[in-house]
Amino acid sequence: MVGAGQLARMTCQAAIGLGVGFRVLAGSAADSAAQVCADVQVGDYTSRDDVLAFAAGCDVVTFDHEHVPGPHLAALEKVVAVRPGADALRYTQDKLAMRERLAGLGVSCPRYAPVSSLAEVTAFAAESGWPVVLKAISGGYDGRGVWVCETPDEAAEVLAHPVAVFAEQHIEFDRELAVLAARSPHGQAAVYPVVQTVQRDGICHEVLAPAPGLEPRRAREAQRLVLALAAELDVTGLLAVELFDTGRLLVNELAMRPHNSGHWTIEGAVTSQFEQHLRAVLDGRTAGRYGECFRWARSRRVLPLPACDGGRPGREDPPVREAGAAGAQDRARDRGRGPGAGGPAARAGRAGGALPGDGGGLRP
Ligand SMILES: Nc1ncnc2c1ncn2[C@@H]1O[C@H](COP(=O)(O)OP(=O)(O)OP(=O)(O)O)[C@@H](O)[C@H]1O
Ligand SMILES: [Mg+2]
Repeated sequence: MVGAGQLARMTCQAAIGLGVGFRVLAGSAADSAAQVCADVQVGDYTSRDDVLAFAAGCDVVTFDHEHVPGPHLAALEKVVAVRPGADALRYTQDKLAMRERLAGLGVSCPRYAPVSSLAEVTAFAAESGWPVVLKAISGGYDGRGVWVCETPDEAAEVLAHPVAVFAEQHIEFDRELAVLAARSPHGQAAVYPVVQTVQRDGICHEVLAPAPGLEPRRAREAQRLVLALAAELDVTGLLAVELFDTGRLLVNELAMRPHNSGHWTIEGAVTSQFEQHLRAVLDGRTAGRYGECFRWARSRRVLPLPACDGGRPGREDPPVREAGAAGAQDRARDRGRGPGAGGPAARAGRAGGALPGDGGGLRP
C-alpha cells in the first residue's frame, strides 16, 4: 500500500488477519502505519524511482491516498498489478474530470463549470446564484481546497492563489450520505449500507450506519449507483461515493480506497472495509459475507491528545474530553496515528482516531 497513514495502519491489521504479506511506502518511519507494519519502505510517493523500487516484489499495489502522480501510476502498471488502476484513479485525482465523467454518465451532481477568471465565476453565479463553491481541481482533502465564496471579492481572493479551481453550485443539502462498495478485477462486487456523515469544518466528524430514516427505495438507489459507477469506471477495491441529500441524491465526490465513512465496519460489519479492500484488490479472495452488518453503528472522530506535544490535555477542550471518554469505553478502539506521529497532525487538527459504537440509542 502506497501511503502509511491511519488507513494503511488499519489495512495492515486486516492483512494480518488474512495472512497476507503487507508492505507500506511511508514518508517517514514515524508514519502511523510504519509504526506497526513489519515491511516498511521509506520513500517519496512523488518520486517515480521510489514508487517503482517499492513495488518490486509486490503482487499488487494499492493506495491509502490518491496523490501518486498519474505518469508514475502508468509506469507502475507496466510492472505490477495496480488496483485501482490509473484510469479509474484519475477521477479521484482530478475533481473536474470526475464532474465531467459523471455528467457524461447522466449522474446527478451539483452544477459546475471550469473557471480561470473572476468574470467566469460571476457568469457562473449569474446562473447558479451566490454563494459559489470554488474547489481545487486536485490535491484537496478534509475540506482543504473547498472555498464557499459569498461575494465576488471572496472569489477574487481565492483566485489570487496559484491553485487551479473550478466553480460549483452551493448545495443547501438536508444532510450528507456516503455509500461504499468493493469490486474485484473480475467484477464481483458488494455494497455496504448507506451511512449518514456529519462534517465539521470540512472533516468527517461522525458517521451513523445505516443512515437514519432513509427510505429503503432511496438507499437502494444509492447502492445501485455505487455499484454501477464501480463497474463503469472499472474500479478495483473500494469505491466510496459521497452524496448530498436534498430530497434527491447528488454526487459530491468519489474516493477509491478505505474511506472515513467506513470505519464503523470494523465492529459493525462481518467484513471490515479494510479487509474488503484487500480481498477485492487481491481477487480470488473475495468472501461471500461481504456487507453483512450488525444493526446499528456510530463512529466518531477523536483528535490526538495535546499530550502528544508534551503538554497536559486542557480540561475544557471537548476533543480531549472525547478522547478521555474513548479510553474509558471498553468498545473504543484506537485507529491511531500512534505516539510520536501526533505532533504536527495534532496541531493541524487532523483525525486521530475513531470511536466506534454499537449505535446506542439509534433508531431508524
Ligand atoms: N457544492 C457544495 N455545496 C455545499 N457544501 C459543499 C459543496 N461541496 C463541498 N461541500 C462541503 O465541503 C465538504 C468537503 O468537500 P469535498 O468532499 O468536496 O472536499 P474534500 O476536501 O475532497 O473532502 P474529503 O476529505 O472527503 O476528501 C463536504 O463534505 C461538504 O460538507
Ligand atoms: Mg469529501
